[in-house]
Amino acid sequence: MLCLGIETSCDDTGVALVDGRQLLANRAASQADLHAVFGGVVPEIASREHYRLLAPLYQACLADAGVAASDVDVVAVARGPGLLGSLLTGVSFAKGLALGMGARLVGVDHLHAHVLAAALETEIPYPAVAVLISGGHTNLYIMRSELELELVGRTLDDAAGEAFDKAAKALNLPYPGGAVMDRLAAYGQVDTALFPRPYLDNQNLDFSFSGLKTAFALHIASHEGLATESLVDATELQSEEGARSVLGESFQEIADICASYAWSIADTLRIKTARALERMAEKPQSVILAGGVASNTTVRRLLKEEANTRGLAFIAPSPMLCTDNAAMVAYAGSRLAEAGLRHDLTLEAVPRGRKVPRDYVACG
Ligand code: KG4
Ligand code: ZN
Repeated sequence: MLCLGIETSCDDTGVALVDGRQLLANRAASQADLHAVFGGVVPEIASREHYRLLAPLYQACLADAGVAASDVDVVAVARGPGLLGSLLTGVSFAKGLALGMGARLVGVDHLHAHVLAAALETEIPYPAVAVLISGGHTNLYIMRSELELELVGRTLDDAAGEAFDKAAKALNLPYPGGAVMDRLAAYGQVDTALFPRPYLDNQNLDFSFSGLKTAFALHIASHEGLATESLVDATELQSEEGARSVLGESFQEIADICASYAWSIADTLRIKTARALERMAEKPQSVILAGGVASNTTVRRLLKEEANTRGLAFIAPSPMLCTDNAAMVAYAGSRLAEAGLRHDLTLEAVPRGRKVPRDYVACG
């Protein structure tokens, strides 16, 4: 079943083609540079860029895979949650394509697509606990199969990615700051007592990162010279030499606080994941990581250790499949289509903060 996937839920435009687990083409265009100037995603700019980029990416995808539009069986599109204007460009494009190609239309929950991303690279044993950590979400799911996921924990305020991005901003590091802080953390030493591991003193599976972000900001405010005076250019932080030269005398201290901050976030995620595993009625088989923050070195290391200590498989997608991409949407769409599900042309986009309904139409 040849499935075309479309991703436009935030600021990454993507179009991909899969046939089962085989990824035939995966085109992406990042708008990060455009938004970095503003220190965050500007929704209006994001929608306009998606609108401009979708058609050329789609054409490039068909050419990469060597297939014709008429060969496509399913058009899958991320229908939310996300920025509404951005989603509307993708959903409208998908509807037009599906109609023109005579293909089946499937709206995909962007979060479901994230947690299935690793399945493109490896067989996932279920039941599993999936840890979805991105710029907008920090969710814990119990997954009984690819299509059955139960939300058991979520953040009450900031998402893990947001906690990284806001801390980076406090240091005057470029947006999105997660990857930059991860790179700097590699040169630092962890001090486990420096920052709190937030919201663990309870019995639940939820998260709260806003207090940690404030603790970080207070630390910066009380240590003069830690934040650079002007916004650092991302290219200057690509190498250790570049980072040393631009951060000057504060290099080591910044690296150390990046390492300690990442540890506090990662260990908090580990502890609540362990709690979710222990509460499962059935014996878990694996721990799945997903979302942009799943590329974080410390998060990967601590969660892998936790899974392996328990004799469970640790599943994390390669970095390309962690951040927003259309390959995961195409894969999730093809699995839904194989289960006999589809949408009609009334498919609606779902903005951030709203639950994506399971309003599929069974194929007749
Ligand atoms: O999944 P994603 O691409 O978009 C959303 O759906 O939000 O995630 C983006 C988030 C950003 O907050 C970014 O800073 C974070 O993922 N991120 C990282 C790393 N790479 C990306 N955070 C920590 N460490 C990384 N290596
Ligand atoms: Zn995402």
